[in-house]
Amino acid sequence: MTAIRFATASDADAIASIYRPYVEGTRVSFEEQAPDAAEVAARMQSPLHPWLVVEEDGRVLGYASSSPYHRRPAYRWTVETSIYLAAAAQGRGIGRQLLSTLVELLTHQNYVTAIAAIALPNPVSIALHSRLGFVAAGTYRGVGFKLHEWTDVSLWQRDLAPRTAEPREPRPPAMIDFPRRD
Ligand SMILES: CC(C)(COP(=O)(O)OP(=O)(O)OC[C@H]1O[C@@H](n2cnc3c(N)ncnc32)[C@H](O)[C@@H]1OP(=O)(O)O)[C@@H](O)C(=O)NCCC(=O)NCCS
Repeated sequence: MTAIRFATASDADAIASIYRPYVEGTRVSFEEQAPDAAEVAARMQSPLHPWLVVEEDGRVLGYASSSPYHRRPAYRWTVETSIYLAAAAQGRGIGRQLLSTLVELLTHQNYVTAIAAIALPNPVSIALHSRLGFVAAGTYRGVGFKLHEWTDVSLWQRDLAPRTAEPREPRPPAMIDFPRRD
């Protein structure tokens, strides 16, 4: 049985271990130095940006998080999302469960747009984001150079709420029926 819950500082080690192979061996992430557990714990400190983990039998299989899309204040209703699963957990629908929970949570937080930046090629990530209502918003050509290759980045946008003249300020993530079990 899988369960989705907010990450805590004690998950930082598991999250760092899941993320490390994507940093060190792939172009999925454009980071080049994998963050250690302390750095992951520091990144988790943001009060307005949730980190979720999915676990099975007490073992963390993956995580999803949001971060500010841009530091300038008019962008504050827009977030960037990211999601990483351990290789053994892929292809079982866990990514869909986890990302849809994150989208629901961000909607409750009053965010208006979520953006995923997908380094190409990544057909599974594109299938996942399309399934959850993200739509293609354009592709940057050759903006990253890693592991000897120039890489395109495709942007996928998911509207979370109607745009109004007086948007409510983003608020911290609240418990919305968590932990969630399958
Ligand atoms: C991308 C990722 C989060 C997707 O999660 P997942 O649990 O593996 O995917 P799911 O099983 O939920 O499937 C999501 C969609 O992808 C499709 N899919 C899954 N595996 C696939 C494969 N090997 N080839 C093609 N499509 C595939 C599924 O059919 C599903 O589409 P559908 O709902 O239209 O049927 C996960 O594979 C992962 O962590 N990959 C490595 C890190 C990464 O790429 N992160 C995203 C960075 S932008």
